[in-house]
Amino acid sequence: MKQWIEELFKDPELLEMGHLQREEDSNLGFGWVYYGLARALRPRTVVVIGSYRGFVPLMFGKALGENLEGGTVYFIDPSYVDDFWKDAEQVNQYFAGFGVANVRHFLMTTQQFVESDAYRNLSDVGIVFVDGYHSEEQARFDYEAFEPRLATDGLVLFHDSAKVRPSKIYGEEQVYDHRVKCLIDEFKLNVDLQVFDIPIGDGITLVRKSTGPT
Ligand SMILES: C[S@@+](CC[C@H](N)C(=O)[O-])C[C@H]1O[C@@H](n2cnc3c(N)ncnc32)[C@H](O)[C@@H]1O
Repeated sequence: MKQWIEELFKDPELLEMGHLQREEDSNLGFGWVYYGLARALRPRTVVVIGSYRGFVPLMFGKALGENLEGGTVYFIDPSYVDDFWKDAEQVNQYFAGFGVANVRHFLMTTQQFVESDAYRNLSDVGIVFVDGYHSEEQARFDYEAFEPRLATDGLVLFHDSAKVRPSKIYGEEQVYDHRVKCLIDEFKLNVDLQVFDIPIGDGITLVRKSTGPT
């Protein structure tokens, strides 16, 4: 694993985007949480919405590839930041270069994906990772799109959930506020949900349906 991480971090862009990665001690930061959850829960299907250079799909892809059960990562990203995800062949080669062959990329928004056959055929999703457009409305859309597709013990992770803050990822002319936290604050008032924040760095929040007291 250490060797794999060292290979990964040769690309400085895989150290970005606030997952608390650190090259010096081959530390995946939140990547350990993504990888560890996928090893422990052994989901056959993981959905990742949005990624800059594929750090999160790589974590889940690596984990599912090492599980005896195998599985597929459905990675949805319309490549709005730049052209990185535009060429299907290059995308496959990119993941394969890290020994990860189970990521299926969809060059589309979640809004477009919910109209696809892939979405219609999706069930029993074990983990959904929400890291697309960080408005409150889009985070809600992403959650509501996949909540009905979750497995009984399905888990939804939200990135950038620690605070409301401006983002320039789409350029200086398109500065907008990350408002995922506002949706999470609403979820915390819903007794049907369990909500667990890890508010370090840009933060992640884990959400699952509550089973109530047993
Ligand atoms: C760069 S990543 C992660 C952002 C990062 N955590 C940050 O600091 O803003 C966000 C990705 O979401 C994608 N995206 C934007 N709108 C989306 C949508 N409606 N559905 C799916 N992905 C979307 C973009 O193409 C981009 O690659």
